[in-house]
Amino acid sequence: MRRVFPVLLSAALLCFLTVSQARSDSDEVGELKNVQKLKGLAKPELVKVMKGFCAALGKKCDFCHVKGDFSSDDKDNKRTARMMLDLVDTLNEKFFTDPKEARATCYMCHRGDEKPVFAP
Ligand code: HEC
Ligand code: HEC
Repeated sequence: MRRVFPVLLSAALLCFLTVSQARSDSDEVGELKNVQKLKGLAKPELVKVMKGFCAALGKKCDFCHVKGDFSSDDKDNKRTARMMLDLVDTLNEKFFTDPKEARATCYMCHRGDEKPVFAP
């Protein structure tokens, strides 16, 4: 367990570092139709972030996405995840501001589960 945790954490971190780096090149967005927060990511970069969501929540793509239409917002979990992106951004903007230190991620609360634990 001691070894697994840092690996997962750094995967989640890498994921968010990739987001901020790739946000600047807005060229290759291509056929993405309904990206409101993770704007400017090329599709492979976006999918990396998505895999980070899966790892952070211990779920597959269909936890948030309607089968056959990734751009659909029909699933509650997708809309919640979008709000959670705002939450993580706010935490990083206000509190975890040093890019060299640990930054806020989905994993820090979810730890591989859809429901974070509220009390010890
Ligand atoms: C925890 C929820 C969650 C999971 C799990 C998830 N996604 Fe997403 N996905 C989102 C959200 C939220 C957006 C919209 C992001 C935005 O608006 O910036 C999105 C957007 C997308 C888009 C862009 C679609 C478009 O045209 O606008 C693709 C493609 C995508 N996801 C693929 C995947 C794949 C592939 C997986 C599994 C590896 C996956 N997602 C897992 C929440 C999730
Ligand atoms: C500060 C802690 C925190 C962070 C960071 C966080 N979440 Fe959450 N998330 C929660 C809490 C609390 C809930 C509500 C769980 C419940 O209803 O019991 C939740 C619920 C959700 C749900 C709905 C799950 C369900 O079963 O109802 C999704 C989807 C989700 N979060 C995705 C994300 C994603 C994606 C990220 C990263 C972008 C993220 N969360 C970051 C605390 C957090």
